[in-house]
Parts: sequence; C-alpha cells; structure tokens
Amino acid sequence: MYQSDEAWREVDAYFAGALVPEDRALREARESGGLTTMPQAEVAPNQGKLLAMLCRIAGAVRVLEFGTLAGYSTIWLARAVGDGGHVTSLELEERNAAIARENLERAGVADRVDILVGPAADSARRLAEDGRGPYDFVFIDADKPGNPAYLKASLELTRPGSVIVIDNVVRNGAVTDPDSPDERVQGVRRVLADIAHDARLEATALQTVGSKGWDGFVVIRRSR
Ligand code: DHB
Ligand code: MG
Repeated sequence: MYQSDEAWREVDAYFAGALVPEDRALREARESGGLTTMPQAEVAPNQGKLLAMLCRIAGAVRVLEFGTLAGYSTIWLARAVGDGGHVTSLELEERNAAIARENLERAGVADRVDILVGPAADSARRLAEDGRGPYDFVFIDADKPGNPAYLKASLELTRPGSVIVIDNVVRNGAVTDPDSPDERVQGVRRVLADIAHDARLEATALQTVGSKGWDGFVVIRRSR
C-alpha cells in the first residue's frame, strides 16, 4: 500500500469521476494490476488519460512503452493512437504479459499492440537493430535503475519532435537525496543528469500527489 493522504485520494477520485470515465476493460485492467508482480504500480486513471492526451496532442501514431505490467497504461496509449496506430510494450515478466494480453483483448486493442517479453534493454536493442521506429511517443515505466539505459535506447528509436515521459521520478521526495542508497532513486537522478546534459532534449519534471501517493513525471521533447 502506498502512503497516500486521504484528501489526495478523494481529489483523484473526484477528477476521475468527473473527467475520466473508465469502461469495463479499463476497470478490469486496473484491478488486475493486483495480480502482477508489482501490485498497485499501474498509473492512476487520470494519469493514464494524461498519457493518452499527450499522445494525441503530439499526433503520435507509433508508441513505445517500457514496462507493460497489466497493460493499463498500454490500453490508454493504444486507444490514443487509434485504428492505424501501433504500440510496442516491453515487459520483463511473462506472467505480467499474459495478464496484459487478456486486458488488451478485452479492450479491443490487442491487434495494435505487441508485447515483447524479456529484459527491456535487450528488447529495445533488438528493435533498433531491426530498424523499427522511429517512435513518436515513449513511456518509460519499467524498473527504475534501468532508466538511464531506457532513455539511451529511446534516443536510438525516436526522431526530432518525439515526446518521452518517465514515470515515478519523485518517490516520496527521496529523489533529492544524492546519497540515497536506493538504486531506484539513483536511476532517476542519473537519468535526470543525462537529460540535462543532452543538448537535443528539452524537459521538465512535475511532482504529483494523488491515489499513487507523492510522485511525479518527467516530460521530454526531443528537438533534434
Ligand atoms: C513503482 C513502480 C512504478 O512504475 C510505479 O508507478 C509506482 C511504484 C515501484 O517500483 O515501486
Ligand atoms: Mg510507474
């Protein structure tokens, strides 16, 4: 259970109720997150819709996701790209991928999503070798120590104008501790430094509160 102020939850529930209707497929996908290896790591409904809206604002048709889990964000992304679009989602655990496949089927988007099972860095390298991409939108939401490698891979698989979003960059405020022994925190700090030193990238970071506690996103635009 994430520590989360009751009021944050209530506001998230209110916003979701007002603006983010979920159909049965989305609801069941979110609930099935509890059966994965990382219960409660799925994005919140209003966050899923934010990802979908960023895709649509960016005109994204080809999307790459690091970390499928139960496929909840994958459904949002797949619906955002529409009929002619495509999502490639990278997942370490076959058990999670099996849950996600069922959810994608129920959501009616299984035909526009490929889930590649295995270490995401390996899958991404294979995509690059196979000349796949460029992807218009990338969502990085897998293991946090892997963030620097996933950003690097994303830069081989995107184009000027592509948008990259990284989840979970606050971790209850721990991100500000340069001496944190938590490898997840170091993975976030390292990727932020990499972004800052890359002249191709413009980026900002936002902290969020809500049903997932105190956390946040990085949003990146690749300018060249
Ligand atoms: C964790 C991972 C996530 O992707 C998330 O959204 C929340 C938590 C985790 O590693 O604990
Ligand atoms: Mg996440």
